[in-house]
Amino acid sequence: MKCIGVIGAMEQEISRLKEKLENVKITRKASMDFYEGNLDGKRVVVVKSGICKVNAGICTQILVDLFEAEAVINTGIAGSLNKDINIGDIVVSTDVLQHDVDARIFGYSRGQIPQMDAFSFQADEGLRRLAVQACCEVNPDIQIFEGRIVSGDQFISDKKVKDDIVGEFGGFAVEMEGAAIGQAACLNEIPFLVIRAISDKADGSAQMDYTEFESAAIEHSVKLTYKMLQKM
Ligand code: ADE
Repeated sequence: MKCIGVIGAMEQEISRLKEKLENVKITRKASMDFYEGNLDGKRVVVVKSGICKVNAGICTQILVDLFEAEAVINTGIAGSLNKDINIGDIVVSTDVLQHDVDARIFGYSRGQIPQMDAFSFQADEGLRRLAVQACCEVNPDIQIFEGRIVSGDQFISDKKVKDDIVGEFGGFAVEMEGAAIGQAACLNEIPFLVIRAISDKADGSAQMDYTEFESAAIEHSVKLTYKMLQKM
């Protein structure tokens, strides 16, 4: 039987979703615990991938191979790359790419994975629409943006690094897993969506903001993801 896969990098990002599952079965693979259960009549597998792109890519592949995931949603928090996107707001991915890929020495653009056609990986439009609808219902007091989300194996907390990423890629939010999930989903030809609540501004204030706002931001992305799963 097919399922919808839900990935969070950290336990806090998925613990409330795991609690909503009924008839749960846990399967351990690659040091990750996959929580498989029913949610609103759908088969859903919720899993903590761990942080950074390799963990996220492996996790997505296991969802496809072992659980026959027909769609993957990544929920969590991110740093804002745009002055209009505030802490607590939501960014839903139009597309994702890896800002730390650099093979320019061989003539590729920055961010381009050598010998792959796609520059960025396109999120599913149906899932995007559903996420926006769900967000308006459950988080009416915050803003929701649709835009590019960029990922890299770095926590961005320096304004110069942030400005460089924005100048090069024009992203709306930065995090550490989404593009790996998008890449794995595209290689397997299944739809994906990255949903991130903003926890910090990805500049000098990142460390302080992050601790203070992490849980409020997570609350927004969890509520949205739960509502979205109900609508699927
Ligand atoms: N996740 C949340 N905030 C982030 C940041 N500033 N950089 C990378 N990943 C993040």
